[in-house]
Amino acid sequence: MTEVTTPPAIPITRAVFDDAEAQAVARVLESGWVVQGPRVAEFEAGFRAFTGLPEAVACTSCTTGLHLALLAEGIGPGDEVIVPSFTWVASANAVLYVGATPVLADVSLDTFNITAEEIDRRITPRTRAIMAVHLFGLAAEMDEVMAIARARNLRVIEDAACALGTLYRGRHVGAIGDGGAFSFHPRKAITTGEGGMYTTADPAKAAHARSLRDHGAAKSDHARHSARGAALLPVFEMVGYNYRMTDLQAAVGVAQLAKLERVLAARIARARRYDDLLARVEGLVVPAEPTGHRHSYQSYVCRIPVDRLTEAEVLAGNAYRNAVMNALEEDRIATRQGTHAVHMLGYYARTYRLTPMDLPGAFAADHLSLSLPLYAQMTDEEQDRVVERLVHHLRVTDRPRAG
Ligand SMILES: Cc1ncc(COP(=O)(O)O)c(C=O)c1O
Repeated sequence: MTEVTTPPAIPITRAVFDDAEAQAVARVLESGWVVQGPRVAEFEAGFRAFTGLPEAVACTSCTTGLHLALLAEGIGPGDEVIVPSFTWVASANAVLYVGATPVLADVSLDTFNITAEEIDRRITPRTRAIMAVHLFGLAAEMDEVMAIARARNLRVIEDAACALGTLYRGRHVGAIGDGGAFSFHPRKAITTGEGGMYTTADPAKAAHARSLRDHGAAKSDHARHSARGAALLPVFEMVGYNYRMTDLQAAVGVAQLAKLERVLAARIARARRYDDLLARVEGLVVPAEPTGHRHSYQSYVCRIPVDRLTEAEVLAGNAYRNAVMNALEEDRIATRQGTHAVHMLGYYARTYRLTPMDLPGAFAADHLSLSLPLYAQMTDEEQDRVVERLVHHLRVTDRPRAG
């Protein structure tokens, strides 16, 4: 007998799908052209229109978008790229794909993002680039990142996986640095199942990435098949990849883009309501939104406070957080830790001989962060229930003493 698990009554997130996506997919199927083609071009154009970014190249994920971004900057063996440790492992993995070395840096516990001081500390003669991750939808302090990059002649790649709708001093992120990449995984504001977008302000880099995503071909499949006369095979001047998004995915993306304004407004309004409801709750710190930022709240990530950033305090706080998360699960309310500290993951810890307290901010963020349910369709009743149960468990759960 297969075990049937009841889904949590309040999930961590929920995609916003309706007939528009189903019909868009049906139209692609009817057209007979399902691989990268006109719908991908339409999705890219819609993405550029929404974000105001000059160039957008659709691909299979943010991870492959980061790979394209690193290749576009010419990063390779012998180079070091500074990457915050508190991020999804893909940010660091992409650096390894090009044969470069990810140098993991610490993050601020207030913003969960990399800081200028940390970047400064990690620069060596081999440093070629900084990967600025806009974690959970809050931009990294790009003025500071760009100032260091200009002074040291470094490239800047923005990991904007979580940052569709994120503004920094009024500008959409993704091309403040040299290039960026977005994700359309279902945990993000809009989804194409899997999917990504490489972005840049440089048309030559975008053209290069278009070719790289298509095996290094000089001409796309669709252009070739739509040409009159003999369908010549394209020219291949470089080794590329198959990072093509399909027209099936892009059609979903176009339908999703039509809802994006509404989805973002709803998520931001929910986040503000959490801020209000949780403002005076002891034992919990709500997400920061510093001046000059518009947080897009891909996730609403709180944290358990600690008096001092010692291993013992973080471990005690972690036991408390996990007990609260387990109690919420019993109430059928899904929560997650924000993301992981890459320097504590097996491969990275072993290869670079890193221990948790080498990067205490990332270690603490890993152990103390708590992401609450957030989705555009969330009702006041659902949100009130999350807050009521969370506050209850924070109050009644024993907090172990450090040490
Ligand atoms: C910060 C960050 N970078 C990269 C990725 C990878 O995105 P994808 O799953 O689209 O490859 C994620 C995914 O969650 C992420 O959160």
